[in-house]
Amino acid sequence: MADVFSIDSDRIVRAGHAALARIADPIADPVAPAVRHLAAQMADHMERAGGVGLAAPQLGVSLRMVVFFVPASRVTSLPGDSAEPLTVLINPVVEAVDREIELGLEGCLSLPGLRGVVPRFKSIRYRGFTLDGNEIDRTVSGFHARVVQHEVDHLDGILYPARMTDLTSLVYVDEVNARGGETANG
Ligand code: NI
Repeated sequence: MADVFSIDSDRIVRAGHAALARIADPIADPVAPAVRHLAAQMADHMERAGGVGLAAPQLGVSLRMVVFFVPASRVTSLPGDSAEPLTVLINPVVEAVDREIELGLEGCLSLPGLRGVVPRFKSIRYRGFTLDGNEIDRTVSGFHARVVQHEVDHLDGILYPARMTDLTSLVYVDEVNARGGETANG
């Protein structure tokens, strides 16, 4: 089992790495010490890179775990969108609450420098497990819903450009910042 958790590089891998293009494996034992260790490494990489979310495949580890948080500055006025501390979600499952779609600008630590406008479900229900083996079952909206959809997509080999409906909005962040755009980076 140890080799499952070995990290082949001490960096966030970028688009083109095999781990970002495959369906990640479920985690058999969420309370295993190796899972907690991996989650800590993910949180550390995320924070050092200035992101708001990271999925295990972004460290080259093909397992179904994500970490994220919701900064107060990103919270929208939608019900179910509130600031959230660092959250570890193991074996997450996401479903849309309704079919309502919202557009928002996203970035990805595996596509450094780029941003794009991505349609996401405005509200989702997600379930999964914590590092203590407890079940998480949340219904959320807005930024919270967006970051979870972005990170869980990584577990299925999907990078945000594959969700975009208008690729003319795929731009470099330097140019976006020059216009004062709001971004999500995971
Ligand atoms: Ni990402």
